[in-house]
Amino acid sequence: TREEKVEKILKELTLEEKVGQMTQITLDVITVGENAYVSNEPLAVDTKLLQEAIRKYKIGSVLNTANNRARTPEKWNEVISAIQDEAMKEIGIPVLYGVDAIHGTTYTAGATFFPQQIGLGATWNPELTRRGAEVTAYETRASSIPWDFSPVLDMGRNPRWPRIWETYGEDVYLTSQMGAAAIKGYEGENNDLSDETRVAACIKHFIAYGAEKSGKDRTPTYLPEIELREHYLPSYKAAIDAGAHTIMINSGIINGVPVHANYELITRLLKEELGFQGLVVTDWADIENIHNRDKVAETHKEAVKLAINAGIDMAMVPYNYNFTTNLIELVKEGEVSMERIDDAVRRILLVKEELGLFKTPYPKVKDYPRFGSEEFEKDAYKAAAESITLLENNNDILPLPKNARVLVTGPNANSMRTLNGGWSYSWQGEKVHEFAAEYNTILEAVQNKLGKENVKYAAGIEYKNDGQYYEEQNIDIDAAVAAAKDVDYILLCIGENTYTESPGNLHDLYISQNQRKLAEELAKTGKPVVMILNEGRPRLVSQFVDKAEAVLHVYLPGNFGGDALADVLVGDVNPSGKLPYSYPMYPNALGTYDHKPSEAPTKMEGMYDYDSSMPLQWRFGHGLSYTSFDYANLTLSSNEINGEDTFTVSVDVKNTGEVVGKEVVQLYTSDLYASVTPDNKRLRRFEKVELKPGETKTIKFTLSGKDLAFVRADLKTAVEKGDFKVKIDKLSADLKVKNTVVFDNKEI
Ligand code: IFM
Repeated sequence: TREEKVEKILKELTLEEKVGQMTQITLDVITVGENAYVSNEPLAVDTKLLQEAIRKYKIGSVLNTANNRARTPEKWNEVISAIQDEAMKEIGIPVLYGVDAIHGTTYTAGATFFPQQIGLGATWNPELTRRGAEVTAYETRASSIPWDFSPVLDMGRNPRWPRIWETYGEDVYLTSQMGAAAIKGYEGENNDLSDETRVAACIKHFIAYGAEKSGKDRTPTYLPEIELREHYLPSYKAAIDAGAHTIMINSGIINGVPVHANYELITRLLKEELGFQGLVVTDWADIENIHNRDKVAETHKEAVKLAINAGIDMAMVPYNYNFTTNLIELVKEGEVSMERIDDAVRRILLVKEELGLFKTPYPKVKDYPRFGSEEFEKDAYKAAAESITLLENNNDILPLPKNARVLVTGPNANSMRTLNGGWSYSWQGEKVHEFAAEYNTILEAVQNKLGKENVKYAAGIEYKNDGQYYEEQNIDIDAAVAAAKDVDYILLCIGENTYTESPGNLHDLYISQNQRKLAEELAKTGKPVVMILNEGRPRLVSQFVDKAEAVLHVYLPGNFGGDALADVLVGDVNPSGKLPYSYPMYPNALGTYDHKPSEAPTKMEGMYDYDSSMPLQWRFGHGLSYTSFDYANLTLSSNEINGEDTFTVSVDVKNTGEVVGKEVVQLYTSDLYASVTPDNKRLRRFEKVELKPGETKTIKFTLSGKDLAFVRADLKTAVEKGDFKVKIDKLSADLKVKNTVVFDNKEI
């Protein structure tokens, strides 16, 4: 068996070789160029550096970077085959190469870029997520890379966090469904990694990354365990149950303890309670951070001890702190046990073995004829089209007539960079113009749709495209206003430039003052304004949104987002996206739909109502269509159940408008009274259905008492007896649970 083979290899390894397997370096360490990370020289392996890495450090893994040098699959193959040949020759164990292919094969020219995760969340269609992951897996493997640091299963519950666009949004059930679908897309239905069109997925960043108190990346998080288990753990559990092979740890500190040094979280919760058998990798330099940044270890050696004993299996970017010598010494001194080292190496070798890397350390590029194919591009387009969310449409101003004359304006109007977001052809999203020139920006797509002669363009504002993501330049609002003279409509494309991680930290969630001014001045022309929000987090627009007749949120829709938007604008595609997060109205009213009753008082002073909501611009799950839907006959198989019972909920949904449309049927429940103050309501099921005009479908969901359960003060998960409401759209039905059932946390 695979396990026996791994055991045999493990027995023959020296301590040095074992520690080498636990070491992951970045590609730029072994490539040519003075500062290889930013070098403009063509990408090539430096043979001397490679030999040193393999022979001296016996490294077991390499990751992406050599940031500025995006490449073709052939180039990847040239580089990775050199690494693998050396590793196989010297130690007989292939290197595990990983990359952040989070919406397509990052850094790879010609790869198919899907919407970023937040856009996939907005599709409410897990099949599109699965397919996106499958295509990405194929193209990543075609690029000789078998390991993908994706999907992100952190929760997008804080709109100020700069990585919210890398999540599936604020709800843990939606995230769990999407995450599990992504795992199946990356790893295949049976998680058989020997299939050379699949990759090992890496779920990240365990756990509660993004729950930072300040909203700024990698700043402290304070999170009681009851909340961690209720709103952050289930998405990881779902992905582990779906078979995910690897996991990355949260860079931050929770309740004062760096997660990388937290035995309770990594070993007790992840490895023991959730039963995770795969490989645990750190995030960037995070063992070093335990000492240097977070100051809970007095020395680097102490940091290595804390991390490895907490349950870390592989160290990403282990420079500057003598990881290798420190770990070898710690084992010799008895501070880290050989069992712990063997456990780590076993997990690493098993992933390599399952991926078939011992047999085929790198594939042949020519075996991947579907790389960048039209078939894949159509899938990416489809996902983009289903993500676009129509938030406002006064007087049915959309769709536009096909002979409309329009002004396309705003800093996001002519940018492939802002359509793609971070982790595309580079980390922060730059370089995109060199590699995505063949795809259509919003402007180009609208020109193709309406005819160049009907489209005017004046940016009004441009983003700086160097490292300063928020700086705007060439501001000429007058020129945009003048260009609106002979048009029927204004397509105002605003939002923000791209970013990820700490460089994306923000002090002000409002959209920029320049962009607000542009909107206000354009509205004064009296021409109807269609506002297109191209952004990775919900930037506040409450000061001027009333100037727009229609609002569309496109998120970061990928290389085909411009085309999809143009189709939505004229009604060739009927929008069906729904917000995966609550879109705030005010900076001091940030919250999620599943808040506690007291967080959203109704107008009646002192009274709390289960359907009350925060003062939001747009609520979670909101999204309009060019048709209308009616709901009727909400029926439960039984209005009284035992806590262990299953029951069904059915509802009729009818397309009452004139055109075909897709609707997301969303089922929520509310627990009226419980031993812990219940959340306002919780999403329990959803299904996206397509309906022709006049067509009715009956949608049936099966639930059980477990779906109504919550984490109690004693940290056990239970459904408590009492009254519940089941809600779909504006309909609601009563449900009584007759007895309290406490579930085994492992089985929930
Ligand atoms: O996978 C990423 C992670 O999401 C953020 N830090 C760097 C890692 C590797 O690139």
